[in-house]
Amino acid sequence: MIHYPQLVALGYLITVVLFVFGIRLLGSPATARQGNRLAAVGMLIALIVTFVGLGALPWLAVVPALVIGATIGAVAARAVRMTAMPQMVALFNGMGGGAAALIGADEFLRRTAHLASGVSTISPNNSVPIVLGCLIGSISFSGSLIAFCKLQGVMRGSPITFPNQRIANGALLAIIVALGVTLVAVDASPWLFVLFEALALILGVAFVLPIGGADMPVIISLLNSFTGLAAAISGFVLDNEVLIVAGALVGASGTILTQLMSRAMNRSLANVLFSAFGSKTSAASDVGPSADQAIHSVTAEDVAILVGYARQVIFVPGYGMAVAKAQHDVKELATQLEKRGVQVKYAIHPVAGRMPGHMNVLLAEADVPYTQLYEMDDINPDFARTDVAVVIGANDVTNPAARSNPSSPIYGMPILNVDQAANVVVLKRSMNPGFAGIENELYYNPKTLMLFGDARESVVHLVAALKELVPAN
Ligand code: TAP
Repeated sequence: MIHYPQLVALGYLITVVLFVFGIRLLGSPATARQGNRLAAVGMLIALIVTFVGLGALPWLAVVPALVIGATIGAVAARAVRMTAMPQMVALFNGMGGGAAALIGADEFLRRTAHLASGVSTISPNNSVPIVLGCLIGSISFSGSLIAFCKLQGVMRGSPITFPNQRIANGALLAIIVALGVTLVAVDASPWLFVLFEALALILGVAFVLPIGGADMPVIISLLNSFTGLAAAISGFVLDNEVLIVAGALVGASGTILTQLMSRAMNRSLANVLFSAFGSKTSAASDVGPSADQAIHSVTAEDVAILVGYARQVIFVPGYGMAVAKAQHDVKELATQLEKRGVQVKYAIHPVAGRMPGHMNVLLAEADVPYTQLYEMDDINPDFARTDVAVVIGANDVTNPAARSNPSSPIYGMPILNVDQAANVVVLKRSMNPGFAGIENELYYNPKTLMLFGDARESVVHLVAALKELVPAN
């Protein structure tokens, strides 16, 4: 006969296995959807098993909460635009951190409810994880909300700084740590706990304010790892194994992703956190070409002839393609080129766009075959053998200053070597800089042709011109 505890343990084991395999499958665009589904099934099993294991429950409260939560999640996930995905992740992540903090707060207040009469079940064994979980979960909650507001345009996206900000933040952290130690070792007063929680929430806000909007993906990933840690700690507080494992998985993957993103920008995490990158644009003379250098502006017809008679064309998508929602038209352009015997490839920079895998997801949405997507290290040697590199709304990730100008803020960042192609075509609306706020010397290269306009409109014109001017095979 199977007892509930055994059933729960078995269900949790299945859940953990599904989570691990789910993450494994997320490693490739070809299997990512399957991985997502597998992890979702794991989560469903965890929920059912947890409720079964708890026995008698206030179902009247639990069922509506489940229905409301699931409905909001499903509707939001379906409705969100791809460019708004980072802020949705921030919001969902913040909710996880908030939930972990609430679990800790509930445990603390429950255990200290009768402190005045000398009855309390709080001890360092449980107060250490409770206080730690509340601190980390609260920082993740309020920090994620600020990240959401910055990305959603609810507040200014640029870094919000003031004199001696780091000292003020350091002092706030020191006060919070002192309060936490007091709560654990001296006085588990509920009022002290409320003050501790309030300051932890303020620290989350203060932590994210000085960071620029375009660095938010890195911060969201870091806060994601905080949430994972807070969830794992909640697992210890509640004595729930699956929460410990799931939290550890989220914490570890968030940390790895944060490191990968920082490395792809050749910036340390400290630089992302404390440099207020994106607050000021560098003077053109510091990093860019001189003002008298000419650019070559061309029409869609000129570009159609160039790409239509090429042997190989490499598309280099960036943030502008996402803004213009041009991915479907880019795919159509590729199809038309292939009908004219042109080999088409896509070069994917790891931090092109504004979130990890941004370009992969957009191009997958447009049914671009995965086999045509090449990561930076694989495609870079190809540029020198390519007739035309077509840059679609990418900027910083193509800037040769990263290789050649030690005074450039992006010096050392690995880039796509588009300047090595025989011809370069750049689709953008103006000479405005990208996220790093610096001029791109690529645009002044004699072999670079600028096709100005919204990326989607330009590609639509290009397809029309191609059909008119270059016969298909
Ligand atoms: P950016 O350097 O930001 O350049 C995007 C370009 O797109 C801009 O120059 C803009 O020029 C153009 N653009 C905007 N809207 C457009 C539209 N509708 N049609 C055509 N062009 C449009 O983008 P990138 O090359 O993808 O580089 C990403 C940057 O973000 C890097 O600096 C990276 O370090 C940073 N970053 C990325 C991540 C992740 S995970 N992806 C995380 C943190 C930071 P116009 O205004 O002239 O059109």
